[in-house]
Amino acid sequence: MSTINYSEKIPNNVNLSEDRTLQRALEGWQPNFINWWDDVGPEGSTNHEVYLRTAVSVDPQGWAQFGHVKMRDYRWGIFLNPGDAERKIHFGDHLGEKAWQDVPGEHRANLRRIIVTQGDTEPASVEQQRHLGLTAPSMYDLRNLFQINVEEGRHLWAMVYLLHKHFGRDGREEAEALLQRTSGDQDNPRILGAFNEKTPDWLAFFMFTYFTDRDGKFQLSALAESAFDPLARTTKFMLTEEAHHMFVGESGVSRVLTRTAQVMNELKTDDPQKVRAAGAIDLGTIQRYLNFHYSVTIDLFGADQSSNAAIFYSSGLKGRYEEGKRTDDHILKGQTYKVLEVRDGQLVEKEVPMLNALNEVLRDDFITDSVAGVNRWNKVLEKAGIPTRLTVPHKAFNRQIGALAGIKMSPDGRVVNEAEWAAKKSEWLPTPEDFAFVASLMGRVVDPGKFAGWIAPPVMGINRQPVDFEYVRFG
Ligand SMILES: [Fe+2]
Ligand SMILES: [Fe+2]
Repeated sequence: MSTINYSEKIPNNVNLSEDRTLQRALEGWQPNFINWWDDVGPEGSTNHEVYLRTAVSVDPQGWAQFGHVKMRDYRWGIFLNPGDAERKIHFGDHLGEKAWQDVPGEHRANLRRIIVTQGDTEPASVEQQRHLGLTAPSMYDLRNLFQINVEEGRHLWAMVYLLHKHFGRDGREEAEALLQRTSGDQDNPRILGAFNEKTPDWLAFFMFTYFTDRDGKFQLSALAESAFDPLARTTKFMLTEEAHHMFVGESGVSRVLTRTAQVMNELKTDDPQKVRAAGAIDLGTIQRYLNFHYSVTIDLFGADQSSNAAIFYSSGLKGRYEEGKRTDDHILKGQTYKVLEVRDGQLVEKEVPMLNALNEVLRDDFITDSVAGVNRWNKVLEKAGIPTRLTVPHKAFNRQIGALAGIKMSPDGRVVNEAEWAAKKSEWLPTPEDFAFVASLMGRVVDPGKFAGWIAPPVMGINRQPVDFEYVRFG
């Protein structure tokens, strides 16, 4: 089961050739996917040969193979982690029953919605990032961008496989619609807000891959617990790929900070205008980008109280992050969780049934994980002797979804009135001037081993290749 068959049109480890109808349906979708890739995928990349990793097995030791591949010839395929015939449902009302290999009729609509919502984010991020190759700060970074793009394309394949295999005609229609919605489109946008925002520059890209790909990690982790076994197995393998995406974000921001700190030390200044004049990104701008990406990303977890979240959990469709490692009863009836609400213009904590608060539980797990990386960024500043620290804003800052959307909050957690919000917004969120400044730094640097002036080189290359390796051959 774990070897991947590459001799077929669609590489897979699911014995696709044994199900002719399914195979034909997916082979019918394949050219539409390629058309989508050509239309809104990475701009101008068609003839590049890129040093990409391709999945060749789902064995955690050595699942990938690296080599130069023409982007368009990347072998997008269907890879599920090995199954366990004895697997039992380990949370919710069906706890202890056998995991499902097929979709139970009563959960069909909810499962389809979960899969479509996840699937929609994958092509969305490719669309959001499509222009970035034109302004890559190095050949190394260009390669990482393209690696992420092809893998998000593969994640779309992962969800489309489930839709085609398990949801009949509705599933095939949903698979088509996944190629028709477009990020930021007025008439037919992507489903979730953060996936309709622009990713205008590389600082935004690094923040996106740090925060928003991490949302992906938490959603996929919750789905990896699912009673619907094919969903659990496919999301487990997606998580293997996801780690690199977050690495690109974390190390990207680290390298920006390294360069900024260098310039600040050389010039002995913390004046943002002097830092900018020297061609580096000032810490205030980095903090404002962080505030934006963090706040739009935590909105992705949905409303703080949600009866859907309770249904998804109790019926076994979606677990909690690391469900198996938790020591409670995995049913959660009668348990409570603290959420924030707005009362008389102030934030107050209130206890609500935990089942209804599972979006908040997942959001809080995400926040803990995010903060850990921000602390690692601060180590870069600390080592360089710079006293400024980056922080994540308060959970209620700049929220558009849930109970907290009704309040204006400063990043440090003070409720503010409209006048103060209007006066301070430009200190808290990126301004048009910030975007214009960062855009002014975005020039294409693609000679092997060369890096744009606003970012430090990485500590090491990809797959133990040197930093100045020819990661991309331009055709
Ligand atoms: Fe993804
Ligand atoms: Fe990702």
